[in-house]
Amino acid sequence: MCGIIGYTGSENVRDVLLDALELLEYRGYDSAGIAVKDQETKQTAVYKCAGRVSDLRAICGSETTAAGCGIGHTRWATHGGVNDRNAHPHQVGKVTLVHNGIIENYRELIADYDLAGELQSETDSEVVAALLNHFYEGNPKEALKKTVSKLRGTFALVVLFADQGDVIYSTRNVSPIVATLCDEGAMLASDLTALCRFTNRYFVVPEYHILELHSDKLVLSDFDGNIVEPEYLTADWELNSAGKNGYPFYMEKEIMEQPEAIENTIANRIKGGLPDFSADNVPDTLFTDCERITIIACGTAMHAGLVAQALVKSILHMHIDVEMASEFMYSDPVIDEKTLVIAVSQSGETIDTLEAVKYAKRRGAKCLSIINVKGSSIARESDYVLYTNAGPEIAVASTKAYTTQLAVFYLIVAKMAWSRGIFTTEETQSFVRELQRTPEVMKQVLEHRRDIHLVAKRVLAAKDLFMIGRGLDYSILLEGSLKLKEVSYIHSEAYASGELKHGPIALITQDTPVIAAVTQEKLMSKELSNIKEVKSRGADVVVFIKETIAGSLEGEYEVFELPNMQDEFMVMPASVALQLLAYYVSSDKGFDVDKPRNLAKVVTVE
Ligand code: M6R
Repeated sequence: MCGIIGYTGSENVRDVLLDALELLEYRGYDSAGIAVKDQETKQTAVYKCAGRVSDLRAICGSETTAAGCGIGHTRWATHGGVNDRNAHPHQVGKVTLVHNGIIENYRELIADYDLAGELQSETDSEVVAALLNHFYEGNPKEALKKTVSKLRGTFALVVLFADQGDVIYSTRNVSPIVATLCDEGAMLASDLTALCRFTNRYFVVPEYHILELHSDKLVLSDFDGNIVEPEYLTADWELNSAGKNGYPFYMEKEIMEQPEAIENTIANRIKGGLPDFSADNVPDTLFTDCERITIIACGTAMHAGLVAQALVKSILHMHIDVEMASEFMYSDPVIDEKTLVIAVSQSGETIDTLEAVKYAKRRGAKCLSIINVKGSSIARESDYVLYTNAGPEIAVASTKAYTTQLAVFYLIVAKMAWSRGIFTTEETQSFVRELQRTPEVMKQVLEHRRDIHLVAKRVLAAKDLFMIGRGLDYSILLEGSLKLKEVSYIHSEAYASGELKHGPIALITQDTPVIAAVTQEKLMSKELSNIKEVKSRGADVVVFIKETIAGSLEGEYEVFELPNMQDEFMVMPASVALQLLAYYVSSDKGFDVDKPRNLAKVVTVE
């Protein structure tokens, strides 16, 4: 969590930092700050406040002298409340520092080095600044090494030393830092989004190394002082693709981008109508040799795993578990060298998923990850990676990352069914052809988004809401319900329809709208009965139903017909419809759709 930027170069540093922080705000947005080195006075000025980057912009005003070097931070509070003092950067003596991560032993450090008198905030980060200042005797690298040797926890540290000119220093453990040298100077950030505007070439700073950023060069060294050549990667994200492109919110833009994103995810992985992962260097044996599958992920990515689980069970008849990454290590999971572990993550930085991957590998499992952000920590930790190629996802609520994760899962299931002799070649090609229809079908839902907007108006006033469905519909609704609650703050629960009568139906009244999904033909008649049950208890029911079976629905309901696909693929149009529903409820309520309260896009604390 927390967004970090550092820049030294020819551009107006204040503008570079503030613009980058706006792009990084999705990582945390309860406070923001920058520190800039004044070119004339050589002083480091700090501007920081609780609130958004727009508030920070206002306090920086035009008085800040343009300068060539500075660092910035957007905060997601861990230690200490949300106030101006706890905002970063923290300045102690000659050290000005921003930090992402958690220092577990900060209390011991305060006591051991008698730092209490130096601290003004309640943060663990300021303790690091004080410790660094304690060790600093004119040699930044020595001070960083000594400081890091005392820290327990996760950290990305970015530091200005008062007497080191326009040079920025950085080191890290777990929490990511990416960096680049481009025409405008040298820069680093907590993620690629902030660099995209300048270049698509970047490298990931290795853990326990020190990076020095000068306006015209970068120096990367290990803790023994050996110079290390950065391993540059090329992001296939377009420069400027992180902008809103005329949409009021990133979430809407990202929902609308899904047909193209799916195309980008699958196009190069289909050869002769069959799934092909050779360009990803994923060997076929990975899919033929495993006896069981375990999917580990969090939030939306975990919901993509639940859809995959239903497909694997019904098509491959294999044992498959889906584990919340945050619970995985503590649940004595059955994992061995015959287990294929599939980690799913948009950011590739979710700490619980990362730690779960490390744990599974220690137990001998092979790990394949499905990731959006190239070169991210989980990608680097995994044996094999399938990138989703969805482009930058900025809205905190995940949309295109989810459907592209599903697209990869469809290809994996097709590959496994074919290579294990469950599907013939023709059956595999037919399955893949249906997947290839997805972008067109999604476009049809998007074209009818005004109808979904009307549906959204019906649930605007709700405090509580239920979503019901069976089989794959239940998996889809778990995600639809998460989406609605995170952006609209309506309490929403997804229930398997058959479970309603075992308790929750007691909560159904005329004030609890029910959203039902009916896309699975073989479960339709039972689902329609469940819909009648809630209707007869007064609920206002909205039904998302596959168009070819819509005629079976009797009674007065608000209905949205979903374009027809084979049942296994109805997840795709239904998910887009539910995303739009959540989006419209949130925007109609006047919320900041892209930055829901308390959330952050990248969850790097356990
Ligand atoms: O980056 P990841 O996919 O690992 O993130 C996992 C979850 O934090 C994420 O999906 C979260 O649930 C989203 N806010 C949901 O929209």
